[in-house]
Amino acid sequence: MLHRLTTQVGIVGAGPAGLLLARLLQVNGIDAIVIENRSREHVIDRVRAGVLEHGTVTLLTALGVGAGVRRGGLRHDGVHISFRGHRHHIDLAGLTDGKGITVYGQNEVVRDLIDARVATGAPLYFEAAHVEVRGLESSPEIRFRHGDDEYEVRCDFIAGCDGFHGICRQAFPEGVLTIYERAYPFGWLGILAEAAPSSDELVYTYHDRGFALFSMRSPTITRLYFQVAPDESIEQWSDHAIWEEMLRRMTTSDGWQPSVGPILQKSVTPMRSFVAAPMRHGRLFLAGDAAHIVPPTGAKGLNLAASDVLVLGRALKGFYQAGRTDWLAEYSETCLRRVWKAQRFSWWMTSTLHRFPDETAFDHQRQLADLDYLTGSRAAMTSLAEQYVGLPFEVPLESAGLPV
Ligand code: FAD
Ligand code: DHB
Repeated sequence: MLHRLTTQVGIVGAGPAGLLLARLLQVNGIDAIVIENRSREHVIDRVRAGVLEHGTVTLLTALGVGAGVRRGGLRHDGVHISFRGHRHHIDLAGLTDGKGITVYGQNEVVRDLIDARVATGAPLYFEAAHVEVRGLESSPEIRFRHGDDEYEVRCDFIAGCDGFHGICRQAFPEGVLTIYERAYPFGWLGILAEAAPSSDELVYTYHDRGFALFSMRSPTITRLYFQVAPDESIEQWSDHAIWEEMLRRMTTSDGWQPSVGPILQKSVTPMRSFVAAPMRHGRLFLAGDAAHIVPPTGAKGLNLAASDVLVLGRALKGFYQAGRTDWLAEYSETCLRRVWKAQRFSWWMTSTLHRFPDETAFDHQRQLADLDYLTGSRAAMTSLAEQYVGLPFEVPLESAGLPV
C-alpha cells in the first residue's frame, strides 16, 4: 500500500543530529517526520562518543531531555595529558570560568531522545528501506519502504542527518560540493571493559608505541582506546594482548594504570577529517556527520552535530514564525565557522598525540616539545581548555526558542 504523508520538515537519520533537530522543532511547534534505516535497538546499542561539551549539556537541558545526563552523566572539571611516563593535569574549570565536560554515552543521549519522542507519539520510523530524497530545489519528497508499505513524504525542507555514509550528501547535484579531506595513517582500537575507572578524569597518552586514551562510561565501566594501523583487524587482538598493550602504553612512573576487567565490546575505527561545503542545496540541509567528520581525538563529532542542529532549528523557527529566509540562507556559513575551528582543534590534538609512520626524529622531538609547552604554560592550557569544553555556539539558545 502507498501512504502519502505531508509534514513541514522531513528528517533522514535518527542519530544525535536527527533526534536533536526533531526535538528542537517539536519545542517550537514545527512538524517533522524522522526516518531511520536501522532498528531502534541498533541505533541505541551503537557504542560511540562519550564526551559532551558544556554547551551540549545546556542544550539537552533546554530541550527538556536533560534528566538522564543530570542523573547518569559524570561531570569532569579537568583532564590529564600524559607523556614521558608522567600525567599532567589541566584544570578545565579553573581555566574557563567553571566550565567542564560531561562523560555520558552517545547511546544514552540517543536513548533519552528516542524515549522522549516516542512518549509524545510524534512520527519516527525505524527500519525504513530504500530511502530516497527528491525535488531538492522546489518540492522536496522523501520516499521509503516500511515493511510491505511504500511511503511518500512531502515536506517543505529535508534535513540530511544520516551520517557520513548516508544518502543525502550523495543527492547533491554533481559539482555543487567542495570536499576537504585528510585521512590519517592510523585508527583506534577501542574497548569497553567491566572495570571501575582508576582515574576520575580522562587521560590522553602520548607513548613511544603510540597514542592511548583512558575514558569511562560509569563508575563500573572503563572505555579505553589505543592507536593501531587503520586497517588493523580486530580478530588479531586477543583480550590478553589488548590489555598488555593498554597497560604498556598507559602505566605512568608513579604506578598509575587502568584497572583490568572483562572486555564487553571491541572494535577498530579509522580516522579522517572531512568537510563538505556548502551544507545546503535548495531545500536540503545537511547536519552532523553527513556534512563533516573529525578524528575522535578532540571528542568533537557529536558536539558539532548539536551545534549544527541549533543553527538549523533557529533558521526553521525564523522561517515558520516570522517568514525569515536570511537565517536559512546563512545556515552553511554560520555552521562552517564553528566546524572549521573544531576541525583545526581535532587535527591538532590528533597530530600532537599520535605517532606517524613516516615521522622524522625532528617531528618526534617537536611533538614532545609541544606537549611540554602545553602542560607548562597557562596560556597554552587555557587554549586547550576553552576548545575542549567547547567554543561558544554561533547562535544563542534563545534565538532558537529555548530557555536559557
Ligand atoms: P550518526 O550518529 O552517524 O547518525 C546518522 C543516522 O542516520 C544513523 O542512525 C544511521 O543509521 C542513519 N542513516 C544512515 N543512512 C540512512 C539512510 N539512507 N536512511 C535513513 N537513515 C540513515 N563525538 C564526540 O562529540 N565526542 C566523543 O567523545 C566522540 N567519540 C567518538 C568515538 C568513536 C570511536 C567514534 C566512532 C565517534 C566518536 N565521536 C565522538 C563522533 C560521534 O559519534 C559522531 O560525530 C556522531 O554520531 C554524529 O551524529 P550524527 O547524528 O550526525 O550521525
Ligand atoms: C571518548 C572518545 C573520544 O574520542 C575522546 O576524545 C574522549 C573520550 C570516549 O569514548 O569516552
